[in-house]
Amino acid sequence: MKKITVNTQTAYDVLTGRNLLEDCRDDMAKIIEGRKICIISDENVWNIHGENVKKHLSAMAQSVCVYNFAPGEESKNINNLYDILEFLAENGLKRKDVVVTLGGGVTGDLGGFAASVFLRGIRLVHIPTSLLAMVDSSVGGKTAINLKKGKNLAGSFYQPSMVLCDIGLLETLPYENYTEGMAEVIKYAVVFDENLFEILKKGEKADENIISRCVDLKRIVVEEDEHDNGSRMLLNFGHTLGHSVEKLSNFGISHGNSVAIGMAILTKGCQKLGLCEDGTYEALLDMLKIYNLPYDCDYSAEELVNAAKNDKKSESAGINLIIPEKIGCCKVEKMSYDRLLEIVKAGK
Ligand code: GLY
Repeated sequence: MKKITVNTQTAYDVLTGRNLLEDCRDDMAKIIEGRKICIISDENVWNIHGENVKKHLSAMAQSVCVYNFAPGEESKNINNLYDILEFLAENGLKRKDVVVTLGGGVTGDLGGFAASVFLRGIRLVHIPTSLLAMVDSSVGGKTAINLKKGKNLAGSFYQPSMVLCDIGLLETLPYENYTEGMAEVIKYAVVFDENLFEILKKGEKADENIISRCVDLKRIVVEEDEHDNGSRMLLNFGHTLGHSVEKLSNFGISHGNSVAIGMAILTKGCQKLGLCEDGTYEALLDMLKIYNLPYDCDYSAEELVNAAKNDKKSESAGINLIIPEKIGCCKVEKMSYDRLLEIVKAGK
């Protein structure tokens, strides 16, 4: 088991390994013992893992209640947020009680947002069940719901009290959910870590070492820039165009697949315009193919850039774009939408 402490305003541990509910009882007891717990989960995840998690938490908690919602990105909305808040109130949770999110990125974002605003913030534990949530969304304190105008347009920065990345939970994950998580793992390698990129070339499944390496890379960035004003933006590599693809497809193309497409189009465009080292695009493309990830889409450059104008990272004069200079090294560059369009046209 690996333990990484994230030293944000309130520090917390991210535990990665197997059988964590058994082996990390003492760590969990510090937060959960004698408290009321609300587990938030989608119906699919609940049916697979819910009763087992509830059994373990019930052994320590004063009481456990469960809120389930329909799976899918559409559930990350204000109605579900409102229902969860009412549910927490009806069940009498107090400030020191705990919301436990059990699921992927949608569950962590929605449940995390609810925990951050209920009683102005109650304790939060994430138990991510997807690779994407383990390596990215459960760490760093971003919570959100979607608005009609775009993804994650309302939310908060709210760090959890603990994150349990139990890789045994990944064994029941459908293949496409696993590969979309690999898109985020590849993102870390391209942005920060050439060695990780070399390891991934072997096409191996993400294990404890790979997952905790990604968590540690995220820790470094989040500790430096908790509120996303500087270096944390690097984690957005591929996400500006990725969010456009997600939105244009009405969330029919998953987040990870959209990020893969976003990274590929952007890197191709940057390479064609001489903004990154030759061979970077080919190396990324080979990697995406190894993990059966997509690298193009039917949307035009104009459609992608127009959709990006509603991205929350955008400003009226332009956007902060993450430029891949070479594998293992990216930079943030402020640019106009016209310049972005030039790059995307070159990448299509
Ligand atoms: N998922 C990007 C971030 O946490 O900043």
